[in-house]
This record gives sequence, C-alpha cells and structure tokens, in this order.
Amino acid sequence: MDFKRLLVTAALPYANGPVHIGHLAGCYLPADIYVRYQRARKRDILFICGSDEHGVPITIRAMKEGVTPQQVVDKYHAQIRDSFAQMGISFDIFARTSSPVHHLTSSEMFRKLYDQGIFEEKETEQYFDEKAGVFLADRYITGTCPVCSNPAAYGDQCEKCGSALSPEQLIDPRSTLSDAVPVKRKTRHWYFPLQNYEEFLKKWILEDHKEWKNNVYGQCKSWLDNGLMPRAMTRDSNWGVKVPLEGTEGKVLYVWFEAPIGYISATKELTPDWAKYWCSEDTKLVHFIGKDNIVFHCIIFPAILKAHGGFVLPDNVPANEFLNIEGEKVSTSRNWAVWVHEYVQDFAGCEDVLRYVLCANAPETKDNDFTWKDFQDRNNSELVSIFGNFVNRTFVLMHKLCGGKVPQLHSDVLDESDRTMLQEFDSTRKKIEDSIEQYRFRDALFEVMDLARKGNRYMQEKEPWIVTRTLAEKPENQKLIDNCLHVCLQLCANLAIMSNPFLPNTSRKMISMMKVVEKMLDWENAGKEKLLSPGYTLREPQLLFRKIEDTEVQQQVEKLKNRSATASTPTASPVLVPAKAYVPEYKPEIQFDDFAKIDLRVGTIISAEKVEKADKLLKLLVNMGSEERTIVSGIAMHFKPDEITGKQVVVVANLAPRKMRGIESNGMILLAEDSAGKLHFVSPESLIDPGSGVN
Ligand code: 2FM
Ligand code: ZN
Repeated sequence: MDFKRLLVTAALPYANGPVHIGHLAGCYLPADIYVRYQRARKRDILFICGSDEHGVPITIRAMKEGVTPQQVVDKYHAQIRDSFAQMGISFDIFARTSSPVHHLTSSEMFRKLYDQGIFEEKETEQYFDEKAGVFLADRYITGTCPVCSNPAAYGDQCEKCGSALSPEQLIDPRSTLSDAVPVKRKTRHWYFPLQNYEEFLKKWILEDHKEWKNNVYGQCKSWLDNGLMPRAMTRDSNWGVKVPLEGTEGKVLYVWFEAPIGYISATKELTPDWAKYWCSEDTKLVHFIGKDNIVFHCIIFPAILKAHGGFVLPDNVPANEFLNIEGEKVSTSRNWAVWVHEYVQDFAGCEDVLRYVLCANAPETKDNDFTWKDFQDRNNSELVSIFGNFVNRTFVLMHKLCGGKVPQLHSDVLDESDRTMLQEFDSTRKKIEDSIEQYRFRDALFEVMDLARKGNRYMQEKEPWIVTRTLAEKPENQKLIDNCLHVCLQLCANLAIMSNPFLPNTSRKMISMMKVVEKMLDWENAGKEKLLSPGYTLREPQLLFRKIEDTEVQQQVEKLKNRSATASTPTASPVLVPAKAYVPEYKPEIQFDDFAKIDLRVGTIISAEKVEKADKLLKLLVNMGSEERTIVSGIAMHFKPDEITGKQVVVVANLAPRKMRGIESNGMILLAEDSAGKLHFVSPESLIDPGSGVN
C-alpha cells in the first residue's frame, strides 16, 4: 500500500428523475462495496457523492413538468438521496451542486484558469432554436450519430456508441425543445484547449495506467488516438453556475466543467480537512462511474485539474457498462426501468437481495441483463438455499445438539476434512481481497457464496444429525458433532465478516444471532478460525432470506410491461418553454407588533477576516454609527474578505448576542439568496449614514 488515504467518488446523478437499478449496478453499488470493505480494513477513506443539479437534463425536465429547475432539483435530490440510503449506499456526504460552496468553488476554479490565460475566448456560430429562443447545446439538440448512425444521438454524446460529439457533428440536427430545424447564430464562449494536454494524458493513461479496465482504457485510447480538440466550458443559459467574468449575463459554466468539481466542493462541505484528501499525492482517488461518463472523468476533468494544478488525479476509474432490463435497454421516457424507490416499497426487507443480484450479475466487462426470473432464482437457490440454509442449519443444530453453546474443538478427533474446511477461511479472505482491490466485485461475491456452499457440503458430509443417533452406543462421538458445529459456527462468523461489504443488513443480523459486537466485522478478523469462543451462548437463528414467490416476480414483469405500453410516446413535441417563476411558500403570518420588535439598521463593514478552522465563517467589524460591532456571518464561501470591506449592509441590531467558534456575534447581516443559491447583500441604493434605521 503506497497511499495514506482513500478518496472515493460516485458519479453525481442528475437530479432530473428517480434512480433505477441500472444506476445502482453501474456505479453506486460497486462503490459502496469497495468503501465498506476499505472501512472494515480501517483505512482512512471518504465516500463522496451528491446530485448534479445543473445542465440541460434539469432544464428540460423542468420544462416538461411545467415547473422551475429549482423545483425539479429540490424534488429529485431528496428522492435520490433517500433511495440510496434505503439501499444502504453509505456515502459520507450526499451534497448538491446548487449549494453555495459548490458555486463558489467551481467559479473560483474557472476564474483561476481564466487568470492563468488557459481559456481561449471565441465567437462562433452555434445552432439556435428560433421557436424556443435558445441556443442548442448538449441535449437540447439531437440528430444522427456520425459514428454509429443512431438517430437519437445528443449534441454532446451518443449514448449508443459512447462517442463524444459536438452539435455540428450531428446529421440532420433537430431541436429537442420544439423539433425545429435549427439555424446558426453567433455567440461567445470560453474554450479549454484539451489538445495541449494530449501528450500528458497519453503518458498518464496509456503508459502509466495500463491496469485500468479494458473498457475504460479502450475508450481513452480511442479518444487520444483521434486527437483532442478545444472544448467550450461555458453555455448560454440562466440555470447553472454563472460565468464569473464581467459582461457575461446569461452565460453559465458548462455542466461537465463544474459537476466533477462537485466532488471537491462536497468534500469541502464534509470536512475542513478536505485539502488533505484532494491536494496530496498520498491520496488514492477512485472515481466510480458508468461507461457514458468515461471521457469526462478520464480525459476532461483530469486535464482541467492538471491545468489548475495542486490536485490529485484518479488512481483508477472503474467504470461499469450498462444493465438492461428483461432484454431491453433502460429507457426513462418509455418507463422501462426498475425504480429503486418502488423496489424498496415492493420488497421491503429485501434490500440485500437486490444488492446481491446486482453484484452477482454486474455489468463489469460488458452490458448485462436483469430479469425478474434471474432475481427470483438467485434469491431462492443461492441466498435462501445456500447461504441462508447453511447459517440456519448450523444454528438449529447447535441449539439441538450442543446445548445452544459454541462447542469445543477437539483436536484428538480433528480430521482432514475439518482441517481443509478451516483452511478455506483464510484462502477465501485472500481471494476476496485480491478481487475487491482489482474492482472485480462479482468474483469477490462469488467467493463469499462459494464459502457458504463449501460449508453446506462439509456439513452434509459430517451429518451430525445422523451421528447423534450413535451417541447411546458411542458417547465419544459427541466430539465429532462438536467439531462439525464448531467449524460451521466459525464459518458463519467468517461469512458475516466477508459478506458485510455486499450484504450489510444480513451481516448485522448474523452478528446479532452470534451476540457479538460490530467490531467483529473488522476485516482483520476475516479468515480467522477462532472468532467465537467455546462455551459462549448464542441466540436462536433469524430468517436471513425469505423465498420469493412466482406471483411477486410475475407482478413486476407485468408492471414493467403495462407501464411502458401506456408511457406517452412523444410525437411532434410541443415547444417547451421555461415555467413561470416559482411562488414560494411563505412563513406563517405575523402581526405588525411582531415585526416592529426587529431593529434593522444600516451598517458599514469596516473589516472582514476568515475565522480559523471554520470554512464558512467571516468575522466582520461593522460601523453602526454610534459604535463598532463584531458580527460573525456564514458567508465565507460567497465573499472574499477584501471584496466586502466598505460595503453597506442591513443589520438586525437587537438580536441577542451569540457565540460562534468562541467569538461573540452581535447582530446579523441580511442577505438575499437567488435561485442559484448565490447570496447578495441587502444594501441601501447609495451610501447613507451608518446607524440609519430601516423600516
Ligand atoms: O451522467 C450523469 O448522470 C452525470 N450527472 C454524472 C456527473 S458525474 C460528475 F462529474 F459530476
Ligand atoms: Zn453513436
């Protein structure tokens, strides 16, 4: 191990719809398995994710639903976060790219690259939809892919062949918004010169990272072999992170410029130690993504980080391929998907079953198919019949034949098959480790199940339920029964540890049956032969997995088919227009007297400084006319101290003092937050005397 800490990211899902099981299989489940395993190894690790709340996917969804982009992201951020939590995806943070920290972080990075003279500013002709009145970048435009002839390729990418595209490359382009044939209009943008990083990327990926998965390495190679081109890092839109340059009204940062920076800003939100993870060569950074994100994480984001300087680059980007459903590609518009929020309702208590099936059948090297029949088979004939059955038999027999206690291991009657079984523990541990460290989660899970399978065979061979019938004649045979159940119980303890990254709920049920604390699940215990002490009383077994009935899976298949049959198939689409401004829900009514109690005054900021070890706080000295006051305000992510000295602000002057990070704050500054989460001071139009009242 030549790293001190791990930083694991999982692609930020667009907050434009719920997550389906293809998302889980593609990126979140493997990431979670990896992280749970590394946590059990006691490694210093952070697991970062959040929702991607900008870009065309959001604005299009808002137009389709007739609501504002803010309403879209608020709704789906919460739903996605909850679905992941229910499936046991154990992020350390699930942030949002609409957060102020992210706006500040990404615009500062853009600004730094701009100040270094990295961007090329160009005025070019771009497709424009005259009906909808918008420039057509990214997914606002579709057409035929010049590489694979897919007629529904987007302006930024063809989802069929994975090629990254620009709108100009599309054959017969049409507007996604109105189906109009677009015209060309002039517009100005800032381009990142990817071609200048070609040599660096070739060495870094093609020579130094030959170990990357074939699908990832192959896509990178084909990009690099075709030669890189400058790529616009800004867009014409009002939804996103505003371009931090003068005179750029109506322009925002390209979502694929700022979204990956979301990993950094989420880490900033999580810990003041964020730089220890992002800005050190001792960090192993791993991006878990789906195959459609490869170029952005392996080529574009690393080139941006390289140009910026000071950030660690990914050690690996283990991208999975796609998961099809019942033989067909997932399609959100046709509603051909298994939605996670529905699964957790329909199969409450079976979250580990889905984790198991999606991992056992993960699209690690090629697209794979999920079928409800396979889901049922894997549950009934693997989880129930092999894993669950072994654990259950062991506990039942231990209660029946060994008085409910862990029996002794009698070395005088230990035979070859006992020894072989015990040795399997450690060799399985090693195989699981090797596989997980190489991002081969299917293989690792297979080893867990194989250990349970071997346990079943071993018990079948030892037949303690038969041996017990010989005890009247040969009481010494109790030793054979003891040995068998001793070995099987130690095997159960190992199964709890080894299945923990994959089946966390099951593993916890098992430690409860064994009456051991969670500490036993530490990976250092994996492979050990003496985890449960002889003489220790254990609980009755709990059912680990229930059988899944034919009717349950038939219902799911019908649901899938009925829904997709009734899903609206878009014909000539109506012109989509942005919804009217969102009317917020106001706080409950108050009386005039309540309001009159608040003393609002104009103050002038005399000085501002950062508060040590508090990323968000600024300590302000404010001239209130008759006095100077210290006010601590949570605005450090929005304003630099030297930008705001001299500014006039409105202060709540009679707010009771409050200590923040040991500093007494005397009052509060009023701020307005715009729809993008950016803060603005509430200030008098022109300079007036500090201390003036605001009524
Ligand atoms: O493909 C997607 O769903 C993107 N929202 C992934 C973004 S990952 C990261 F870069 F933010
Ligand atoms: Zn294509």
